[in-house]
Amino acid sequence: MPGEVPPWSRSELESRQLERLADTLARAYAHVPHYRHAFDEAGVHPDQLESLADLARFPFTTKADLRANYPFGMFAVPRTDVSRVHASSGTTGKPTVVGYTAADLDTWAEVMARSIRAAGGRRGDMVHVAYGYGLFTGGLGAHYGAERLGCTVVPVSGGMTERQVQLIVDFAPRVIMVTPSYFLAILDEMEAQGIDPRSTSLEIGIFGAEPWTDEMRRTVETRAGIRAVDIYGLSEVMGPGVSQESAETQDGLHIWEDHFLPEIIDPVTREVVEDGQEGELVFTSLTKQAMPVIRYRTRDLTRLLPGTAYPAFRRMQKVTGRTDDMMIVRGVNVFPTQIEELILTVEGLTPHYLCVLTRPGNLDELTVQVESAGPVDPALGDRLRERIKHRIGITVAVDVVAPHALERSLGKAKRISDRR
Ligand code: DLL
Repeated sequence: MPGEVPPWSRSELESRQLERLADTLARAYAHVPHYRHAFDEAGVHPDQLESLADLARFPFTTKADLRANYPFGMFAVPRTDVSRVHASSGTTGKPTVVGYTAADLDTWAEVMARSIRAAGGRRGDMVHVAYGYGLFTGGLGAHYGAERLGCTVVPVSGGMTERQVQLIVDFAPRVIMVTPSYFLAILDEMEAQGIDPRSTSLEIGIFGAEPWTDEMRRTVETRAGIRAVDIYGLSEVMGPGVSQESAETQDGLHIWEDHFLPEIIDPVTREVVEDGQEGELVFTSLTKQAMPVIRYRTRDLTRLLPGTAYPAFRRMQKVTGRTDDMMIVRGVNVFPTQIEELILTVEGLTPHYLCVLTRPGNLDELTVQVESAGPVDPALGDRLRERIKHRIGITVAVDVVAPHALERSLGKAKRISDRR
């Protein structure tokens, strides 16, 4: 059945992982000059792999490596065997290009079908896809996964929020796939049109592509009367569908480890840490043909936990942030998600916010701009400032702004504006 999770035990899974890993390392070494050089320089050879732990001897791959091999230098197959490319724009310079063979697209559709099933989606469901279509992997990834599962797909893409609302009302989808921040914009639009979001047909929201907190989950579940689950992925490793939270347990995301092998490292020492400890997530692809990735450093911070809904597959905790989204304010490390958590404890404030960093003198200053739900009341800002001081230990400025004063994003929300 499409989207079925393999019924393997942990040891069956690990023996398949080892076989697939050996094959991936050998193909990367044979067909991708970057890996041949990197392995040679590190003095390792794919033949030396005897156990999964031996992977730690192989070098990491970073976004800079992919950029240096722009556009197709990381491909392990002839360009004519590549069925599709995607790209992620990033903040500077050239985009990162990724490629898929027909077999890779088949694997991707399968893991996405699995993810939608784990989220509670079923064959026959209508699925509204509001992730962007195009070079971004969100739209097309969700699209083919939902089709594989046997759903009716509405390929709306992002934007034209009024029309999103109209299609939800008229077509009556059960499932929506969208970034959590854009879902908030859709909810606002429903309310502006006098539609109670709880009255729509939507039952399941599959939210990802950006960090979001459990507090945000409670907010959208209450406002929209749906079950909200987390989906994670990144283009370099595949796209959405690398890991997925189960609707039954809502306790972090099961990694589809038969295709993507996770490790957690200390981002400073780069040593592998034990399961349960927090650090940077690193992935090695196990079945990808067009563009295998070996120990790709995601920059995402999380920890690995044992499986629950799917016992053989480990979970990753909800991503708290990216190493590059860490703000250091007077020596204290802060992530936007920590601010979001506290905003949502202040009644009258909304989850539309932006962290603005400035350096007026020699010291960094953080100003949290946050929209109020109703008329601007500076007391709400005082309340948030106190909670941030109390819980995170830093003094920030809070700027409560009018509803809709902050720019909305149609995809990933921008949470930090660095004006230093
Ligand atoms: O964002 C793929 C995706 C699309 C995932 C739709 C989920 C839904 P990229 O554009 O390459 O790919 O960005 C990958 O986004 O390294 C994380 O920093 C962040 N990210 C993705 N999903 C989550 C999530 C897609 N559930 C980068 N929670 C990743 C937190 C996420 N961050």
